[in-house]
Amino acid sequence: MNKKWWHDKVAYQIYPKSFYDSNGDGIGDIPGIISKLGYLADLGIDILWLSPCYQSPLADQGYDISDYYSIDPRFGTMEDMERLIAEAKKRGICILMDLVVNHCSDEHEWFRKACENPEGKYGKYFYLRDKKEGDLPTNWRSYFGGPVWEDLPGTDKQYLHVFHRKQPDLNWENPEVREEVYRNINWWLDKGLGGFRIDAIINIKKALPFRDYEPDREDGLCSINAMLTEAKGIGVFLGEMRDRTFKKYDAFAVGEVFNEKPEEIPEFIGDDGYFSSMFDFNEAVFGGSEKGWYDITPITPDDYKKCCFEAQARVGDIGFLSNIIENHDEPRGVSRYIPEGDCCIESKKMLAALNFMLRGLPFIYQGQELGMENVPIASIDEVDDISARDEYQVALEAGLSSEEALKVVSKYSRDNARTPMQWSDETNAGFTTGTPWLKVNPNYLSINAAAQMKDEDSVYSFYKKMIALRKDPVYKETIVYGALEPVWAERHNLMAYYQKGERTLLVVGNYQRDEQEVKLPTVYKNVLLNNYHDIAQENGTVRLHGYQVLVLEMSA
Ligand code: GLC
Ligand code: CA
Repeated sequence: MNKKWWHDKVAYQIYPKSFYDSNGDGIGDIPGIISKLGYLADLGIDILWLSPCYQSPLADQGYDISDYYSIDPRFGTMEDMERLIAEAKKRGICILMDLVVNHCSDEHEWFRKACENPEGKYGKYFYLRDKKEGDLPTNWRSYFGGPVWEDLPGTDKQYLHVFHRKQPDLNWENPEVREEVYRNINWWLDKGLGGFRIDAIINIKKALPFRDYEPDREDGLCSINAMLTEAKGIGVFLGEMRDRTFKKYDAFAVGEVFNEKPEEIPEFIGDDGYFSSMFDFNEAVFGGSEKGWYDITPITPDDYKKCCFEAQARVGDIGFLSNIIENHDEPRGVSRYIPEGDCCIESKKMLAALNFMLRGLPFIYQGQELGMENVPIASIDEVDDISARDEYQVALEAGLSSEEALKVVSKYSRDNARTPMQWSDETNAGFTTGTPWLKVNPNYLSINAAAQMKDEDSVYSFYKKMIALRKDPVYKETIVYGALEPVWAERHNLMAYYQKGERTLLVVGNYQRDEQEVKLPTVYKNVLLNNYHDIAQENGTVRLHGYQVLVLEMSA
């Protein structure tokens, strides 16, 4: 594997709307991000991924772009964006923007022109079909619920949208569409971006010609996955995109990829892969069900471990996964991966270390470094997330009571990750002086950056130590390029692995409230991380405290 400039970095995801509001309108913005660059640099962040801040009606919070070449005024101006790129650069931080090109907004000029003249140039930018009363072109269910077909306003046609109806899919089979995409990517790279996070990209290749698939719910529709599994040849598009854009700039590109087959991994993230890296979603998709969120099997510590190790084994040293415990589409990792009732400072640090030390590129989602938790939801009316609103209905239709349905939604809603960043114990967690667009998690009085930065034992301080360890010249080579080897893989509620390189590191976490003993295979030379102040041991046997995690340098 060739070494790349980004391999030893630490990345951080910002959800601009909820990060920091500089002008009191209740919406986070780019000047707000600029004012927090010091915080990020101090934490040790090198790569910043911004969720979309392009011009958008915000039907899906910016993942519905109406102009790829401008910044939405709610987030700032193009000058602000240029200033952010420049100011970040001064601190050694590079910026990734979100590339959302499976679809645009129905308010994009292309779509408006397609409505005006469906037979013209822009009609071919989308997937249009003649409307037949009572008969949809296909029976696919959109990710956010309901059929993927919607009437094309003012015409006798319908258009395809695999996400929300305000997110019409772009027709990648049309070379003109692809040219537009490449032009846009290069335009931004010319502004000095470090690269992109690539949204929903597995959806750009459709199985043609369109056809129905076996319905998988009472609604007579089927999940998009049925069609995607059949779609062949996405690599032609992805390879072309790489060659025409990222490759020329040595840019970093991380793909939102869910369904790669093991034999495709080298094409996706090998030395000359379509992407630099792709996210490991193995833990996030665990227990998923075609029926809906209400049918998800909750993940246990043993499942979590298995998912991580499986993903690691699948990729091996072919390339680099990007490791996450949460993002803007997922509930908070500490609320999901730590057994109910056990979410505490120790367990949060344990989860942090087990994930952060895996082979790959660590991505931290805003607030994760503080151990931010899911938000209590009292009523469905409080929910902003369009997918959560849909899943609430799905749960009701499946026969759950409204309380049960709300419980499901509270657990998995994307709002959990989107509540404002908790900066301090001041009003609105110091996020805004106005009214926040989404309710602040009431636990901000106890969980906030200002308090944690002063506290040596906080989750924040632990993250800072982990990041410093990844950059420590003595251990860097081992942590970044070492080979991961699971240890005691069959033991219950214990997750442990070696990172073997120039040095040998052992990462071991007691994934339960009760103590648990491990007999170390060799003696250790150094304790690199410990979420307790002591190690209880006798003759090489360590009695791990509840949720204790250790990173040890072993004698080889
Ligand atoms: C991705 C984004 C998600 C968005 C969807 C449609 O999954 O992460 O937030 O809703 O794509 O763009
Ligand atoms: Ca603002």
